[in-house]
Amino acid sequence: MSTLTNGSGPVPADAFVHPSKPHLEGDDGISAFENYKRLHEQSIKNPQEFWGSLARDLLTWSRDFDIVRRGSLERGDLSWFLGGELNACYNCVDRHAFATPDKVALIYEADEPEHGRVLTYDDLLREVCQLSYVLKDMGVKKGDTVAIYMPMVPEAIIALLACVRIGAVHSVIFAGFSSDSLRDRINDAKCKVVLTSNESKRGGKTHAIKHIVDKALVECPVVTGVLVFKRTESEVQWIAGRDHWWQDVVKKWPAYIAPERMNAEDPLFLLYTSGSTGKPKGVLHSTGGYLVGAAATGKYVFDIHDGDSFFCGGDIGWITGHTYVVYAPLLLGVSTVIFEGSPMYPNPSRYWDIIDKHDVTHFYVAPTALRLLKKSGDQHVTGERAHLRVLGSVGEPIAPEVWKWYFEVVGKGQAQIVDAHRAAQTYWQTETGSHVIAPLAGATPTKPGAASFPFFGIEPAILDAATGEEIDGANVEGVLAFKQAWPSMARTVWGAHDRYMDTYLRPFKGYYYTGDGASRDKDGFYWIGGRMDDIINVSGHRISTAEIEAALIEDFTVAEAAVVAVQDEITGQASVAFLTLKDHRAVTPEIRDELILQVRRTIGPFAAPRRIYVVDDLPKTRSGKIMRRVLRKILAGEQDQLGDTSTLSDPTVVERIIAAVQAGP
Ligand code: WT7
Repeated sequence: MSTLTNGSGPVPADAFVHPSKPHLEGDDGISAFENYKRLHEQSIKNPQEFWGSLARDLLTWSRDFDIVRRGSLERGDLSWFLGGELNACYNCVDRHAFATPDKVALIYEADEPEHGRVLTYDDLLREVCQLSYVLKDMGVKKGDTVAIYMPMVPEAIIALLACVRIGAVHSVIFAGFSSDSLRDRINDAKCKVVLTSNESKRGGKTHAIKHIVDKALVECPVVTGVLVFKRTESEVQWIAGRDHWWQDVVKKWPAYIAPERMNAEDPLFLLYTSGSTGKPKGVLHSTGGYLVGAAATGKYVFDIHDGDSFFCGGDIGWITGHTYVVYAPLLLGVSTVIFEGSPMYPNPSRYWDIIDKHDVTHFYVAPTALRLLKKSGDQHVTGERAHLRVLGSVGEPIAPEVWKWYFEVVGKGQAQIVDAHRAAQTYWQTETGSHVIAPLAGATPTKPGAASFPFFGIEPAILDAATGEEIDGANVEGVLAFKQAWPSMARTVWGAHDRYMDTYLRPFKGYYYTGDGASRDKDGFYWIGGRMDDIINVSGHRISTAEIEAALIEDFTVAEAAVVAVQDEITGQASVAFLTLKDHRAVTPEIRDELILQVRRTIGPFAAPRRIYVVDDLPKTRSGKIMRRVLRKILAGEQDQLGDTSTLSDPTVVERIIAAVQAGP
């Protein structure tokens, strides 16, 4: 491990007593919770002053901004820190490489427990600079978009940082997406260059991901170059002139290149996410605002201190990986764990082994992994976890018994998790950029399963879905919206600003609409309900049912498709498809396999429906609208609560669907 200096020469790291006093706990006897309340109020009453000073405190600007915030939610023209200039990579890497070059930046925990490596901030700067040169050499210029389709290896993080260093906009596509999905995202953003690896490794298995890129690129006319990181020894198909081996080309370039000066509102990255229609949206985040949100939530929600070692189990293919594997920990200059593998490989103790091996202080993971690990048995929760201070969960509702297990079984032992304040459920979205409702570790009280309180600058409102009226007071339920803009909110949907307005800002004038239901209890805690639209959450992956339906209908045998969610013990939700086939043909096991494959091919393996029921008709209104609500009720075994089915064009279809479900898929 690295050493720390205290003015009288280096002291070994283990002589260092870790700060357990939260940032918000003052010396003035005022509790951290009181401080949170005071600061939250300031952030709402005087956002310009609040965010202005936080932005200057957390980031290094090469030119100070002239104005903190411009625009309104109503018009959808918000911009932050205008006139300010900064570089994201400089803030994540250079400033720490100058001050503390030997501090560990990336801890790579490879799929094989015995492999892996550690990069200091000094190493990271060198590797990022060399890759920046390579990208430039491949023709990437400021403002260009670059696609990243990579496993969780340090090079993936280096790729993001190299892009933003030269002012290019990264668009990471989760390496579990199919070639069709990859193609659509590359084309939508007009990416010139794709970064990938020959193969990926996860849970002891290898996946031929360069092969998926090759298939996608057959229909991507704009792509001129592919950089291939050699993760395994396997040979791959090669297109001379287009494809380059990463390890061969980086060696040609020197160790330093100056970062590009970027305006605060210049795009930082695109991240595609599912909407309620079939077409994914390229959510755009801008430089200054996003970085302020990442650093501020890292500091106050997770209470990150100098010397910490942060482990977020998310993949960089999703927003969690962007904000809490890469940007937040690096902006704050701490070590971040890059975990390539799966929590069950080689055994269910893998997370706890990693935590012990790297003195991890913060662990942040999706409830789906916790449900799986809880089910595997407490005997696998091994080790001391001696440095662990903060536990977080993200992305989907967490059941109180899972939260308790997390806090009591994972958090106890020898760990310093002295109170439940340090185990937190965080609520946010790809579009919010960073946490919006979450307890602040060590400062705010928690309740099992609650998202708790709004982060600074967030002014939540519970609205009546039908009237749009705000519902005040305690013990109320409705849809969740925000009344004020915050720095890290998405600025637009790439090439579709109107869709951005329609989805988030027009449903309730003057508010940002989250798409989620929520309630506020008597103590002011917020609880997140489910999505109000056709988005489902499978293992923390956001999938639109419309997208799965579109994939199924592409198959020549399928006439109609309706996809709905059911609850699942491990994955949270799972999708179930109801189909009618053309010419009323009978379903065979082959057709069923083909249909599953169709979804895997079109979207990706993670989106495959859990079950498929082939029926002779779907419940529809007289105007032809499929009543998915009826299907949900039948799957939940609530066929006695279907309500009025007389509006169906053929009410007898219900009986036949019930019989089909009871007979099994
Ligand atoms: C949707 C956003 C948040 C980063 C990972 C997912 C659901 C998120 C919670 C939570 C219940 C949650 C919402 C939200 N969600 N956090 N703490 N409790 N549900 O980001 O893929 O953009 O999905 O995830 O439905 O809208 P995402």
